[in-house]
Amino acid sequence: MIILGIETSCDETGAGVIETENKKVKLLKNVVVSSLPLHAKSGGIIPEIAAREQIKYIIPVIEKALVKKPDAIAVTYGPGLMGSLLVGIETAKALSFVWNKPLIPVNHLIGHIYANWIEQKSEIEFPALALVVSGGHTDLVLMKGHEKIKWLGGTRDDAAGEAFDKIGRLLGLPYPGGPAIEKAAEKGNPKAFNFPRPMIDSNDFDFSFSGLKTAVLRETSFLTSRPTSNLSSLIPDLSASVQQAIVDVLIKKTLRAAQKFNAKSILLGGGVAANTSLRENFKFQISNFKLNAKFFVPPKSLCTDNGAMIAAAAFFNFKPQKWQKLSANPELYFD
Ligand code: KG4
Ligand code: ZN
Repeated sequence: MIILGIETSCDETGAGVIETENKKVKLLKNVVVSSLPLHAKSGGIIPEIAAREQIKYIIPVIEKALVKKPDAIAVTYGPGLMGSLLVGIETAKALSFVWNKPLIPVNHLIGHIYANWIEQKSEIEFPALALVVSGGHTDLVLMKGHEKIKWLGGTRDDAAGEAFDKIGRLLGLPYPGGPAIEKAAEKGNPKAFNFPRPMIDSNDFDFSFSGLKTAVLRETSFLTSRPTSNLSSLIPDLSASVQQAIVDVLIKKTLRAAQKFNAKSILLGGGVAANTSLRENFKFQISNFKLNAKFFVPPKSLCTDNGAMIAAAAFFNFKPQKWQKLSANPELYFD
């Protein structure tokens, strides 16, 4: 089966084509264009600009990705910026109509999880525990099988990516803060500042990152108020310490959930999953925790938003009747 996946939930215009055979997903093409540079100056995505750029790129991106005629079209229906989403959804509807092929709506976060199945050589066994860490979400999800997906918990305030981005801005780093903090952290000491690890030991699967942001704000105000202050020389240490605090919380809570539900697989997904420290620490801690679970994380290019992951999610969950029900009531995803 050939599936075209379309993703336009935020600032990326993505179209990916996958070919499936015996539950294996082959990636034929994945084209992504981002309007990110246009938002860099404002330090955050401007929805109006993002939507207008989607309009500009949607057709060229799909044309470039279409190496084979698809049997079905998958599209992100949410969550995301409405103006951006509409461009992908309406284009997918039109293609489905003129080609007379099924249209499969996909939840963006489920898409991030399914990036793990693309070009995957080893079998991902259930139950699987997935951590989705993006700019807008931090979710822990239990998968007892395809279509058996249960939301366990999520952030009560800022998402992990949002925390990176907001703290990046506090430190005077370029937008987006995630990759900028990762780069600055390379030369820093993660133990230099002892930032809080909010909710790390709480008896639930929720997260909170706004307190960390406040702690960094307090620390930088203190540092700049000193007569001999030289904040820029401390950016690497501040970045490394912030990154470590976020990584520690994400890993500890995920591994605790994996232990509780006897997960056989641990899956990482979303833009923050591109963070090398998070990826490496996960591998290390899984063996430290003596968990009998295999760790999966997509290649970095499939962690950030793309169309191929939407196509992969559609393939494993495509049941015409179920999709009809879901598109009317998206909350059913986490039933
Ligand atoms: O999944 P994504 O591409 O878009 C959303 O669905 O939000 O994630 C974007 C987020 C941004 O907050 C960005 O700062 C973060 O992912 N991010 C990173 C890295 N690359 C992207 N965070 C930490 N380290 C990175 N290397
Ligand atoms: Zn995303």
